[in-house]
Amino acid sequence: MIIANWKCNGSKSMISEWVSDFSVNYIETNGPFIGIAPPSIYIENVLANIPTKLTGVNIGSQDIDTSSGARTGAVSSEMILDYGCKFSIIGHSERRQFYNERNDDIRRKILNIANKTLTILCVGETEEENKNDLTKDVLKKQLEVIEEIDFNDSLVIAYEPVWAIGTGNTPTPDNINEIHKFIKDVVQSTTRNSEIPLVLYGGSVNEDNAENFFKEEFVDGALIGGASLNGRQFANIINIYNGINSK
Ligand code: PGA
Repeated sequence: MIIANWKCNGSKSMISEWVSDFSVNYIETNGPFIGIAPPSIYIENVLANIPTKLTGVNIGSQDIDTSSGARTGAVSSEMILDYGCKFSIIGHSERRQFYNERNDDIRRKILNIANKTLTILCVGETEEENKNDLTKDVLKKQLEVIEEIDFNDSLVIAYEPVWAIGTGNTPTPDNINEIHKFIKDVVQSTTRNSEIPLVLYGGSVNEDNAENFFKEEFVDGALIGGASLNGRQFANIINIYNGINSK
């Protein structure tokens, strides 16, 4: 699974350029689930621009709110489903940092969307937590939000160390592999249906380093920010994934 998280970037002209760069470079195969999460105001525009031949490309949302109704500025789960979104990212560290989202908000969002579309839950430690060897404790605490939920294969976890997002720094592939195994074990023992989720790595993934991550046993794909804003680079990352997994 390879997901583009455009964050608060893009414009109508960027989208048409992106789609043409992507289409020229993407080698279509029966590869992984591919997703694009544009800013919600552009979802319809992306849907209209993706050529029908790119049938494997799914649109998703960067976030949803805890409910609908009197919630100025929010986007509800019903709205993204209405547009055919196939997944929603939940609990991104930027939501936690800039919008003060706490575990109980994140759990409410997950309950709002679980089993209606894929939930991509982001978890990850800060630099300080990493230095203090607290990574596993922090992840375990963040994963409490899924306790006793029956996901029926609709949960994906993105491991995104906060210190690796947009910085060019990453953990070693070995390190990531170990953490992904840990996450799979925690999720399996926490969820009602003993879900073993796909675990994506996110944090400064680009076309130069993706291969090292994708080779690891427990890395099931990537959630990509900066590098996904370039259609050519995003397509190349998918091609790299397919090259490794078709061997
Ligand atoms: P990045 O962002 O690829 O720009 O580091 C990843 C993310 O925040 O999802």
